[in-house]
Parts: sequence; structure tokens; C-alpha cells
Amino acid sequence: MAKVIKPGNIYGIKEASQIIKSGGLVVFPTETVYGIGANALDPKAVNRIFKAKGRPSDNPLIVHIDKIDWISKLCVDVPGIAYKLASRYWPGPLTLVLKKSSIVPENVTAGLDTVAVRIPNNKIALSLIRESKVPIAAPSANLSGKPSPTKALHVIKYLDKKVDLIIDGGPTDIGLESTVLDLASKIPTVLRPGKISLEELRMIIPNIRMANPKSKVKSPGMKYRHYSPESKVILSNPKKIPMLIKRHANDKIAVIHTSKIKIPKNIESFYCKNLEIMAHNIFDKFHEYDSRNFDLIIIESVEEKNIGTAIMNRLRKAASEIVN
Ligand code: TXA
Ligand code: MG
Repeated sequence: MAKVIKPGNIYGIKEASQIIKSGGLVVFPTETVYGIGANALDPKAVNRIFKAKGRPSDNPLIVHIDKIDWISKLCVDVPGIAYKLASRYWPGPLTLVLKKSSIVPENVTAGLDTVAVRIPNNKIALSLIRESKVPIAAPSANLSGKPSPTKALHVIKYLDKKVDLIIDGGPTDIGLESTVLDLASKIPTVLRPGKISLEELRMIIPNIRMANPKSKVKSPGMKYRHYSPESKVILSNPKKIPMLIKRHANDKIAVIHTSKIKIPKNIESFYCKNLEIMAHNIFDKFHEYDSRNFDLIIIESVEEKNIGTAIMNRLRKAASEIVN
């Protein structure tokens, strides 16, 4: 079993950084979701991440740094807009895809000539990177295909025996993974929507576009089925939810909703006052309902703008049925 340490434990960060330096795996919190990290400059350590997650080797990792200076070491041909966005949004939930330099191992980028980088906005993550003195490659700390972890508990369930240390920093703030923005292609393209929305980025980059999910895969991670809890997930128009509850009368059902619809008292429900609350809780609820053996999770569809685009992106991948 991996050792679990609590925040505020500075010796813990020292121990964690020793593990990173010696090629081990450390799970740490970021402001988005928990990551499973290794020294990004050590291909053997990076390989352990793929093994632990059961991650296909053609899906590249995000490299986490603590200072903008790392960009000039990890990347080449960096456009001015990258520095403008970095100084505006870092530390924060924006990942930039840039041309890679030769010091970035091939397996980090899955053989691509680009590398994804970000400075996370979380004290534990930042002190871990600083103490380790190397950039840390870290995908979300879930088994491939499972919902991302937003609490240490979610990581312990799946990865406990496969990592060396887990730093428990409490629930993550945002709850959805970072926005991934490709600045290496001709037209800046959002490969994965996140809290920093297309609408917001368009004010800085007027010609920005959203990747077409049907076009040739640019962000390799987006082609895989993702985020699926064991329970079946149905994404639904709020008006159809009562009908779905009746239709699945023999199932143990949970409903996640943002409209003030009436849910029968005997049905588990979780009401989200706004979309930030929904984003914060969605993966946590998936993990919780799985551990309580729910058969079915019915989730209300939300409007696809601002953070709603990121929420729907994850929910579409989790859902096996969409009711309009
Ligand atoms: O919020 C986050 O981004 C979290 C925390 C831990 O930082 N990390 C995360 O990593 O979500 P992961 O590996 O689960 O997702 C990374 C996404 C994948 O869709 C991957 O395909 C894409 O970023 N990506 C990474 N490098 C890329 C590259 N060079 N070109 C295009 N897409 C890339
Ligand atoms: Mg992931």
C-alpha cells in the first residue's frame, strides 16, 4: 500500500520530492484534479505512469512546471501569445501545447513533436515541483477510462498499490481537468474545454477555434471513452427526468440536476445551484455512487457555453444514452 500524507507536512513534501528524483511515482493534488506524477525528464519514471494507469502509450502527458522559465528549456519556437497567456493565467487551469525541445523524452509526448505544459495553482503541487527541481509529468490519477479523482480517497481506491506516495490535499477546487490549448498549429485550437472557456480565450485570441471532435485526432486523449463510472449514465433534458425515473423503477437511481425539478423523496438526488458547483462535484458523485452501488445516474444536460461546454464534454463521454 502507498503511504498517504496529509498537507502541512513539510517533511512529506521533502520525502515526495526524493521519490520523484529517484524515479518514483507521487500522487498530488492540483486545483483541477489529482495527478500521478513522475520526473518528466526521466523516461523510465514516465513509463511507470503509463503502466500504473493502464494508459495507451499514444496518449501524451501534461508536464507541470513551477516557473515560466521552464518553457524556454522544454519548448522551441514559442509564439508570443504563449507568454501572454501564461502571464495572464498561470498558475492556473490552462495547458499550452507547444513545439517540444529535445530534452523532453519521447514517451512524455507519445512521439509527437509538441509538449503540453502548465503551472498548476495549488500550493502542494508547486512546492513538490520546486523541491524536486525537475518538471513533473502528470496525467489525472485515475485508471484509464475511469472518472478523474478530485479527492485522495478516489485515488486510493484504484491506484494505491501502484504508486509510492499519495499526498492528500483535500478536495480539489475546480473538479474538472484543465483547458488544453494547442498553440503549435496554425490556428490556436482548444483540444479539451475546461474552466477557462473558449468565450473567455476568444477575447485574447480572436481567431481561436474549438477542435472538431470528428476531425482527425489532434488531442489523442479525446478519442478514448472516458470518465465512465460503473453505474450506467443517462444525460437528459430536465423535462424527461420524471419519465426516466418511472421507466427505471427497478433500478437504484441517483439524479444530478441544476433545474428545480421535483424528484421523488425515495430517489437519491443532488441539486447543483450553478455550473461551478456541478463541475466541482460531478466526478466526486460518480465515485460516490459507484461505491454505493447505484445502477443508474441520471444527469441533467446543461447549456453548452462557458464552463457548461467543459461539463457537457465530460458527460457525453460518460453517458451511454442521451435523451433530448
Ligand atoms: O487538469 C489537468 O490537466 C490534469 C492535472 C493533473 O494537471 N491533468 C490531466 O492530464 O487531465 P490527462 O493526461 O488526464 O489529460 C491530458 C490531455 C489528454 O487529452 C492528452 O491527449 C492531451 O492533454 N495532451 C497532452 N499532450 C498533448 C500534446 N502534445 N498534443 C495534444 N494533446 C496533448
Ligand atoms: Mg485524464
